[in-house]
Amino acid sequence: MKAILYNEYGTEDVLYEADVAIPTIETNEVLVEVYSTSLNHFDLVERSGAFAKDTDVFPRMSGGKDFAGIVKEIGKDVTRFNVGDHVAGIRFAGTYGEYINVNENTIAHVSKEIDLSTLGGVPAVGLTAWTAVVRKANISAGQRVLIVGASGGVGHIAVQLAKKLGAYVIATAGSKNIEFTKKLGADEVIDYNTPNYWETIQKVDAVIDAVGLNQDEMMSVLKEGGIFTSIVKPPNQEVAEKYKVTASFMQGELTAANLQNLMNAYTNNEFVLHVNQISSFDVEEIKKAQAAFKSKQNVGKWIIKFK
Ligand SMILES: NC(=O)c1ccc[n+]([C@@H]2O[C@H](COP(=O)([O-])OP(=O)(O)OC[C@H]3O[C@@H](n4cnc5c(N)ncnc54)[C@H](OP(=O)(O)O)[C@@H]3O)[C@@H](O)[C@H]2O)c1
Repeated sequence: MKAILYNEYGTEDVLYEADVAIPTIETNEVLVEVYSTSLNHFDLVERSGAFAKDTDVFPRMSGGKDFAGIVKEIGKDVTRFNVGDHVAGIRFAGTYGEYINVNENTIAHVSKEIDLSTLGGVPAVGLTAWTAVVRKANISAGQRVLIVGASGGVGHIAVQLAKKLGAYVIATAGSKNIEFTKKLGADEVIDYNTPNYWETIQKVDAVIDAVGLNQDEMMSVLKEGGIFTSIVKPPNQEVAEKYKVTASFMQGELTAANLQNLMNAYTNNEFVLHVNQISSFDVEEIKKAQAAFKSKQNVGKWIIKFK
């Protein structure tokens, strides 16, 4: 089968295409034929060698973290899936292969009506947005929430989920993405190029940071007792104390139940994935895509389509 791997850490130029054996599965795993995956910033950070250890084994296939596809084989202890099921999920060890082996606890069922060729962009940003809005910021109807970086992969889903819960959503985005972010349902969209825009924001109950901006400015718009959650970097607790707010860093909570809830919400149209770019599963296309993606000026999601 075709896979995209690398033999050393570095820029996107370390990626190469290889013909490798279809993976074998453990008893608690399924074999998935991949229809789509997506670009996530963690792919690039990992490929750069930021987490390198002496014990790392090459070649590696760490590109891609989420995927959608069809189950082709199941291990003997797998209880929730059958051959032929349509699934979406997360694989930290990479998704740049035509077939991947995954633990059954990191995938969820999806309806056969859902288009698999873009669905691979939902699990990573969807789970992160859901964890931020529902579990960390604990948004409820009538609350005011500020979403920093609202037009990107995580942000554009966070806006929709917060609106669905009945919040008043204030969003920041670049000037070219103001209309896009309004269409997601944000009540106010602030162009982040506006000087001193923090001073114009009326106090909010929660701030979700998907960019990693100045934490003093971001926390200054919170009501006392408010919640600050960053998906980018750990908050400075002295700043949190100064504003009397609760502040934490978070990652998407990957459990089988959370993933299934997310996919059910997607199937029930509680949020949509805005697909902005589609590249094919080809090493030169992926190199170009990764090089462009690292600018962090993305709108919605960038998909790698296999079929
Ligand atoms: N902790 C976790 O579990 C987790 C999971 C996923 C991602 N992340 C991290 O979260 C961040 C966002 O990920 P993503 O996938 O959503 O990225 P993305 O799709 O590349 O989106 C980045 C967004 O940031 C916006 N932006 C850039 N500068 C800004 C500024 N000064 N003010 C407000 N917005 C600004 C861009 O808006 P414009 O295009 O409008 O300029 C763009 O929409 C990344 O750093 C990623 O590594 C963490």
